[in-house]
Amino acid sequence: MTNPVLEVDDLYTHFFTRERGVVKAINGVSFSLNAGEIVALVGESGSGKTVTALSILNIVPFPGRIFQGSIKYRGEDLVGVDEEKLRYIRGEEIAMIFQDPLAALNPVMNVGDQILEVIGAHRGHLSNEEKWEMASEAIKKVGLSDPERILTSFPFQLSGGMAQRIMLAIGLMMEPAVLIADEPTSALDVTLQAEIMEHLRSLKELHDTAVLLITHDMGLVAQMADHVLVMYAGSVVESGDVDTIFRRPAHPYTWALLQSVPRLDSDEGPLRPLPGSPPDLTDLPDECPFISRCHRPSMTCRTSPRPALKQVGADQVAACYHPLEPLDQ
Ligand SMILES: Nc1ncnc2c1ncn2[C@@H]1O[C@H](COP(=O)(O)OP(=O)(O)OP(=O)(O)O)[C@@H](O)[C@H]1O
Ligand SMILES: [Mg+2]
Repeated sequence: MTNPVLEVDDLYTHFFTRERGVVKAINGVSFSLNAGEIVALVGESGSGKTVTALSILNIVPFPGRIFQGSIKYRGEDLVGVDEEKLRYIRGEEIAMIFQDPLAALNPVMNVGDQILEVIGAHRGHLSNEEKWEMASEAIKKVGLSDPERILTSFPFQLSGGMAQRIMLAIGLMMEPAVLIADEPTSALDVTLQAEIMEHLRSLKELHDTAVLLITHDMGLVAQMADHVLVMYAGSVVESGDVDTIFRRPAHPYTWALLQSVPRLDSDEGPLRPLPGSPPDLTDLPDECPFISRCHRPSMTCRTSPRPALKQVGADQVAACYHPLEPLDQ
């Protein structure tokens, strides 16, 4: 039997803006992460990947708010838990590598002090030398060779790639039970990307960490993930084990996402990106949110409420009235 470390159930996170009204960023998202599992969260820009991650850590910026659902960490609901407890959980139990690492680092504090602060919050009993040693080790682990120099630098002295690796070092340092990595390698070259993915994999294998890997890169998903969640307009529209998702996607949106991946065995280059755009999140339709881009909406799709996720395979669910059959593809 699987034992989820983190369970997100029927999550709604909306932004109550003055100018645009209610931006319905997350609408009824449910999924779980098991120990030692890498789950990829994919979907085009604006689909709600980052807001899902921020919701898990309860750091959704104003005017955003979780207003329904639960996020259980080892069975305990984090929604509504006090800030002190959350501060402990963040970093020690659940860590996040942010999409924009330079924005996540404090610009007026050197890197060493920032790392020491994180260590101090979780390992207060260590001496300063021991903390410094731990920080240097963490820096070396992500492939940065001169830890002394890095630790005495300020964020503006770092390249985007270095900043991202420092965020990764901070994320990995406490060996958290859950690591959320939001586009952790988008600013890095291919070699570095491979190194960092190796770190994620060893974290999963050595420490049984559950990893939520947010990415646009379906190639990376194929290499790294055990399970895939596909988001569209703030909802999970398909979820399944990685082989099934790549071989037999059931939702037409997943199929379209896979079509836009460049193929190694053809020189066509990246195939067509999905035409059209997602619905306005301030004015979501009552019916299927994918209807305007679907190549085969039926009368049922047009006259029925938003489809719920339903079982379409052994380890596969899709929110579609007419899931694709293997022969359709
Ligand atoms: N502070 C905010 N105020 C209003 N709307 C917001 C705010 N932050 C995010 N949103 C909206 O929430 C939706 C989801 O955003 P999110 O950042 O989660 O997308 P994403 O899937 O991470 O995209 P990307 O791939 O570009 O990182 C977007 O439509 C965005 O406009
Ligand atoms: Mg994002």
